[in-house]
Amino acid sequence: PQPESIMDLNAIRQLADTDMQAVNQLIYKQLESDVALINQLGFYIINGGGKRLRPLLSVLAARAVDYQGEAHLKLAAIIEFIHTASLLHDDVVDESTLRRGRETANALFGNSASVLVGDFLYTRSFQMMTELDSMRVLRVLADTTNVLAEGEVLQLMNCNDPDTTEESYMRVIYCKTAKLFEAATLLAAVLAGASPEQETALGDYGKYLGTAFQLTDDLLDYTADSDELGKNIGDDLAEGKPTLPLIYAIAHGTEEEKQLIRQAIEQGDGTHAIEKIVAALHHCGALNYTQQKAIEESNKAIAALSVLPDSDFKTALISLAKISVDRNH
Ligand code: FPP
Ligand code: MG
Ligand code: MG
Repeated sequence: PQPESIMDLNAIRQLADTDMQAVNQLIYKQLESDVALINQLGFYIINGGGKRLRPLLSVLAARAVDYQGEAHLKLAAIIEFIHTASLLHDDVVDESTLRRGRETANALFGNSASVLVGDFLYTRSFQMMTELDSMRVLRVLADTTNVLAEGEVLQLMNCNDPDTTEESYMRVIYCKTAKLFEAATLLAAVLAGASPEQETALGDYGKYLGTAFQLTDDLLDYTADSDELGKNIGDDLAEGKPTLPLIYAIAHGTEEEKQLIRQAIEQGDGTHAIEKIVAALHHCGALNYTQQKAIEESNKAIAALSVLPDSDFKTALISLAKISVDRNH
């Protein structure tokens, strides 16, 4: 416990600033294409106010094990490309119109352009991977992107199913979110030539942090302010997506609450009853439960770092784990 050693997001970004500027340069260079629409849409999404959280994790993780080379910069760009490709596809699949406070690429450019430029970013990330010349990195990222796709398909199968279990939900969020966080931090350790113990520590950190992050995301879909979040509130409900707050309420709510929520999931038309549903989620403790679960995962992420030597970078990683579950957007 080092209560004094907590950084805010600005301090964390400051610490990683030189590296992150280099990552951004790499990202913009790799975005270039002779095809005009790729540049246009690619720039729109890459420059669209994303938090660059995953590349930041790669940078901090590499520095936390005292890496002095530059390979982690390329890794960070690769991870951001995969993430961005997955968001392009995600907003098409989810029929979302708002992200990061702006129109989604699919709303602005159409579904076809979004899917195809997503494919461009995704395949470009594999071109960049070959430049790292590491079969281990290639294998981890091939597995990671495959699991990402599996997670989305599993989630699709759970859609409109009010009997989705907490276990199945946890598997979905591991696959669709935590796995890429895990790759971002694990591979930073791999490229840095860290010990197996440090690799495990950083991989576990990413996995738990990613889980905490998605739990918080799913909580914010019911508790946040649309303007602050930059996304439409109740999107998950409109999709009939059984996230943890709903799963908990079906297990622990009153008969009336259970019925209300089961029906909303089955019909995917709960948004007209959103206020009633949010009240039910509050009343039965579902929102509190989800937040506690996120904090638990965040604490596991922090605990995983105990084997690393103390440094500002380690403090930054610890702080990020706290910030991830204590945000309103
Ligand atoms: C956001 O989740 C989406 C993801 C975490 C992953 C999306 C992955 C795919 C569509 C498949 C893989 C694609 C490639 C190119 C590898 P969300 O919809 O719950 O959150 P949101 O509120 O941010 O939309
Ligand atoms: Mg979505
Ligand atoms: Mg989605």
